[in-house]
Amino acid sequence: MAAPVLTSLYKTAFVTGASRGLGRAFAEMLLAEGVRVWGTARDARRLDQWDQRAGFTAVVLDLRDGALAETVFARAAEQAGGFDLVINNAGYGIFADALESSADVWHGQIEDMLQTPLRIGRLALRGMAMRGRGCLVNVSSLAVEFPIPYMSGYNVAKAGLSAWSESMAYELAGTDVAVIDLRPGDFRTDFNRAAERAERGVNRSRMQAVWLRLEATLDASPLPERAAADLRRALLRRHRGVLRTGSFFQARLAPLLVRFAPGSWRFASQRKYFGLK
Ligand SMILES: NC(=O)c1ccc[n+]([C@@H]2O[C@H](COP(=O)([O-])OP(=O)(O)OC[C@H]3O[C@@H](n4cnc5c(N)ncnc54)[C@H](OP(=O)(O)O)[C@@H]3O)[C@@H](O)[C@H]2O)c1
Repeated sequence: MAAPVLTSLYKTAFVTGASRGLGRAFAEMLLAEGVRVWGTARDARRLDQWDQRAGFTAVVLDLRDGALAETVFARAAEQAGGFDLVINNAGYGIFADALESSADVWHGQIEDMLQTPLRIGRLALRGMAMRGRGCLVNVSSLAVEFPIPYMSGYNVAKAGLSAWSESMAYELAGTDVAVIDLRPGDFRTDFNRAAERAERGVNRSRMQAVWLRLEATLDASPLPERAAADLRRALLRRHRGVLRTGSFFQARLAPLLVRFAPGSWRFASQRKYFGLK
């Protein structure tokens, strides 16, 4: 029997944050399978790499303007004749002390990383529900289970996104519309380089130690192509719900330990891991 191909299930896809990192790997994987991809970045020039690529349409989208993001998405969906697959991937981190930095910093991050993906996700699911099929992939994080110190806004946004994915799974149960709550561990991308950092205040040296740990982990982590291959397999078997991807330890062992070990163990091991005395 011939192996199933993605285009038998998904002919069109919308991928946010396709200019680099995980989003780029997802878009590459889909194009290689013959799926038509609408990929986004904040600046069209960052999508020059896709210029002339058959099947790719560049879209300018900034998470910071949620209402405009909805309009941009709706326009692209109309052009595509509806999306079979939407990957809510774009995102960034803010590394700062929760108590020392302005509340606006955190509100902004939650707005960009939670509210806007929810706006796009809702529109995507409405379109899929009308057509009776499709899949929404919300790119969350292992940070839902292992929150990263000094990235509280990020942790909150990802936890909210995962909670929304699960809520939608209940509301869409029994239909052919699926939601995948994708939780990557660390992947070698520009994520740390692009993060907004504010290491100051009384906790400066603690923050520096945590940052060094984050840098070291990311440098030693798998390439985004692995996440794309895991996602491809999950899409082909029409997976729904949580999907973990990453190193063996982060994607398999750590979540298992979380499930069976007491919360105090997780807290103590996280503290030790980040050198937080
Ligand atoms: N790398 C990891 O270890 C890791 C682990 C868990 C989860 N994740 C999640 O995976 C997703 C992709 O991250 P990545 O590692 O691939 O990071 P990355 O290499 O920094 O890529 C981020 C992508 O998001 C876009 N983006 C950033 N801020 C945006 C904004 N305000 N509005 C619109 N687009 C924006 C960027 O596009 P521009 O060209 O416009 O900058 C870029 O395409 C994120 O949601 C991240 O939280 C990553």
